[in-house]
Amino acid sequence: MIANEIRKKFISFFTASPRNHQEIPSASLIPENDPSSLFTSSGMQPLITNLLGEKHPLGTRLVDSQKCFRSQDIEEVGDNSHTTFFEMLGNWSLGDYFKKEQLPWNFKFLTEELKLDPKRLYVTVFEGNPSVPKDTVSIEIWKEIFAGAGIRALEGERIFAYPAQKNWWSRSGEPEKMPPGEPGGPDSEVFFDFGEKLHLHERSIYAKEKCHPNCGGGRFMEIANSVFMQYQKMPDGMLKELPQKNVDFGGGLERMAAATNDNPDIFQTDLFSEIIATIEKVTGKEYSNESNKPAIRIIADHLKAATFMAAEGLEPGNKQQGYVLRRLLRRATVKLRFLTNTSPDMEQFQPIVESVLHAYKGTTYFDKVNSQAIEKIIGPELLKFTKSLDKGLKEVQKISQISGKIAFDLYQTFGFPLEITAELFAQKGQQIDRQQFEAEFRKHQELSRTTAKGVFKGGLADHSEKTTALHTATHLLQQALKNILNYAVRQKGSHITAERLRFDFSYPQKLTPEKLQKVEALVNQKIKENLPVTMEIMTLNEAIKSGASTVPGAHYPEKVKVYTIQGFSKEVCGGPHADFTGRLGSFKIIKEEAAGTENRRIYASLTS
Ligand code: GLY
Repeated sequence: MIANEIRKKFISFFTASPRNHQEIPSASLIPENDPSSLFTSSGMQPLITNLLGEKHPLGTRLVDSQKCFRSQDIEEVGDNSHTTFFEMLGNWSLGDYFKKEQLPWNFKFLTEELKLDPKRLYVTVFEGNPSVPKDTVSIEIWKEIFAGAGIRALEGERIFAYPAQKNWWSRSGEPEKMPPGEPGGPDSEVFFDFGEKLHLHERSIYAKEKCHPNCGGGRFMEIANSVFMQYQKMPDGMLKELPQKNVDFGGGLERMAAATNDNPDIFQTDLFSEIIATIEKVTGKEYSNESNKPAIRIIADHLKAATFMAAEGLEPGNKQQGYVLRRLLRRATVKLRFLTNTSPDMEQFQPIVESVLHAYKGTTYFDKVNSQAIEKIIGPELLKFTKSLDKGLKEVQKISQISGKIAFDLYQTFGFPLEITAELFAQKGQQIDRQQFEAEFRKHQELSRTTAKGVFKGGLADHSEKTTALHTATHLLQQALKNILNYAVRQKGSHITAERLRFDFSYPQKLTPEKLQKVEALVNQKIKENLPVTMEIMTLNEAIKSGASTVPGAHYPEKVKVYTIQGFSKEVCGGPHADFTGRLGSFKIIKEEAAGTENRRIYASLTS
């Protein structure tokens, strides 16, 4: 089945009666006002505040397909099932239905809409821990569901219970790893069985063990995950029941497509096949040749992720999201270089970027950009790195003695994989200290995991008052900029941590110190006036008519929340916000700088 069809079926299945969900558009890959991570890495991320109890303008039943990026998976790309970019199909109950509706609906979708054979589905549940009991409720529901399909589902054969490492979901993993404020809960996953022959995959360390869904042997692939999000981590380390019991369902679209094709290689689904065919064409290398597969998969995944990021206006850089984009582009360039043994150029990159846009033609993801705009962002970076790579290769030829540390530096600086460095030096009769390289590599991996998990400083609730206050300050700042600069400033990005806000906006020149001072003073005046902040739900058209600001390029649902700061500002926004501006404290602009060529960036903080 093609992915467009699966996406459509999923949305229609959940919007139809009796499920009656409302469809929400995919949020941006770069989260707005979320201090916890660099990228949107799951469908629930844009809905965190709603899972914690904040009202959603479209009600308590939502469905979508969300663009996701997981940088912690970057080293794993190259096999048949890992990617950094993917789409997650999601449905949510915000304190509405729970297990007895979710599990049968999920099964019905997989077996009746996607027509997966029920005999090939295996399910898992949480086995319990000292504070949360075993999920026997889900076990009983699954037994009944399978019985309805004529299958006797026994625990240990069809239904498996696993510890928190496998069957607990939060953005940061099992309960011990959750920061205060973070929501999470036990989950129930569905695995598709691709057949016994795959279990004997020689690379699997589990090859001799009896196969089970989580054995890692390659036979089973997780295609659906229903999280029963009903707990929140407290500052004292305990789990507290949330006031509402939520369902947070996430299923990888690429994996569902692979299951419907009965082919465990997600790179052979239509979300990749055209991109892979283009890579084959521009490199002259065949995907069917096993030795080319890992490189071709990495090029396809990384350039796809980079295309999605650039389409949102992200530029390669040395920090945060920009650095991740740079790394993706460099890794793809190295792979292309070694696959073809020639320096890659735009004649190779361009058709690949275009094939990404084409693969998503049934969606709205690229509605507001064209391939030239994307190539303008990533082209110069790719070409610059190609030159540096050529230089690096010459340098490598000059080094006479290579330690594990130097090999790692080459990996870090020029993106040379160890195998390549080893191959080049073997020609000179040298051997690389693999152990030292691996020690360096592990250090680096730990570091990139921490960055990826993201700056996870303590979840939302721990700092909720601070982040909420900074969010309201961002609205005051936007309006103050409009008034003082006398310019139709548009929001181009916003990011809040517990310590500061960062606001990107359209403005063609540097702000003078006088102007900055005036902006700061106006925000502080509005804080002093202690203005009420109110919220109304209306259609997007009504919101625009009422003069509320929107973010250019953002996809909004039909109904939105409009936050008004009395007599001063009006914005379409998901919230939450302080109820009165007087709660904000004193506003201070820390820094003003360029953000790309056409936008400016302001960092500011609040002190009590
Ligand atoms: N939020 C559910 C998942 O990512 O699997």
